[in-house]
Amino acid sequence: MIVDIINKKRLGEELSYKELDVFFNGYLEGKVKDYQMSSLLMAICINGMTDEEVFALTKIFIDSGDILDFEDILDVKVDKHSTGGIGDKTTLIIGPIVAACGIPVIKFSGRGLGYTGGTIDKLEAIPGFRIDLSNEEILEQVKKINLVITGQTANLVPMDKVIYALRDVTATVSSISLIASSIMSKKIASGADKILLDIKLGRGALLDKREDAEKLSELAIKIGKIYNREVRTMITDMNVPLGYAIGNSLEVKEAMDVLQGKEYDNNLVDLCFQLASEMVSMGKNISKEEALSLVKEVVNNGKAYQKFLEIVKLQGGDLDKLEFSSKEKYLKAYKKGVLTNIDALALGKLSVSLGAGRRSKEDKIDYSVGIRLNKLVGEEVAKGEVLATLYVKDSIKSPDIESIFEIK
Ligand code: URA
Repeated sequence: MIVDIINKKRLGEELSYKELDVFFNGYLEGKVKDYQMSSLLMAICINGMTDEEVFALTKIFIDSGDILDFEDILDVKVDKHSTGGIGDKTTLIIGPIVAACGIPVIKFSGRGLGYTGGTIDKLEAIPGFRIDLSNEEILEQVKKINLVITGQTANLVPMDKVIYALRDVTATVSSISLIASSIMSKKIASGADKILLDIKLGRGALLDKREDAEKLSELAIKIGKIYNREVRTMITDMNVPLGYAIGNSLEVKEAMDVLQGKEYDNNLVDLCFQLASEMVSMGKNISKEEALSLVKEVVNNGKAYQKFLEIVKLQGGDLDKLEFSSKEKYLKAYKKGVLTNIDALALGKLSVSLGAGRRSKEDKIDYSVGIRLNKLVGEEVAKGEVLATLYVKDSIKSPDIESIFEIK
């Protein structure tokens, strides 16, 4: 039976709800083995799934754990999910902004995957910051300050946890069908009414073909309709890193700079303003233009930064104890010209090699290391000028600067 199901997908045929249910729940119960699940996942990656199969799989994922419901307490909960990027600290910025605009945000975030960072790792760079809030604590905090960012509770889509871990090590992450059911099951199970999906596209992202990003967007919207959730999507660039910092403490510091209005007019700030105004527009049912002016207002009047300080305090973090490695290494311009590209993927790999991300699930992250860019795409550079500072622990082999920074 199990082998027949794998064979059916290998031949590109459609699996029924029953077949998917038997296979996936069998895996959760230990009856289907890792090698059998790996084989089915690869067949799905190669042959794809019909929409009906994706809807069935999403339901199986949702039903594998708790379904959270904060309906009685909150009117509308808006959530956003990013498919993962390099230097993507947007949640740390837009969570406080949207909450400061008066919309409750309960965000269940994840850890870094592959070369992309995760919000929970960044928050844990703040010593003492708790990412394991109970449902009672979540409710109490959201009522108090409109904002909670915490890790996924153990029983929120447990199926996704085991399947994702296997996908990560079997080169089966980048299937649109699997991504759609993974993301949407978590958003629906966590009780979000309105969902904004930031689909990253480019060299530093899971997806590098526009038609795949568009297909994911369509699927997410269709799944949302089934569960009566409003889903909006944005397809955003991930060829170059977001902002200046890559690495956990450095990214927290950069998020604080943006919230204090110290950074403006770069790709990170633009994206945060776009995402936050989309969320505020959904949450308040107002136009995106009106939402954007509210977003700018709470950044300019300091309310968004105050919200950030409140969440850090309530979740036990101590910003004075953020650690930055004091050992620095500089990457310098190999010629004079204009910086025309910064390779996000190469910097993602470099940050992992410095210890800012994990090579395997067991690896411990060093929060104090990372990369701080001194120049962004479009800027002029002189020969020998510092393009980036690496905050390192051990001495490292110099990376190939020419393959990371394109100067013309
Ligand atoms: N993010 C997720 O949560 N799941 C995926 O499958 C890909 C990105």
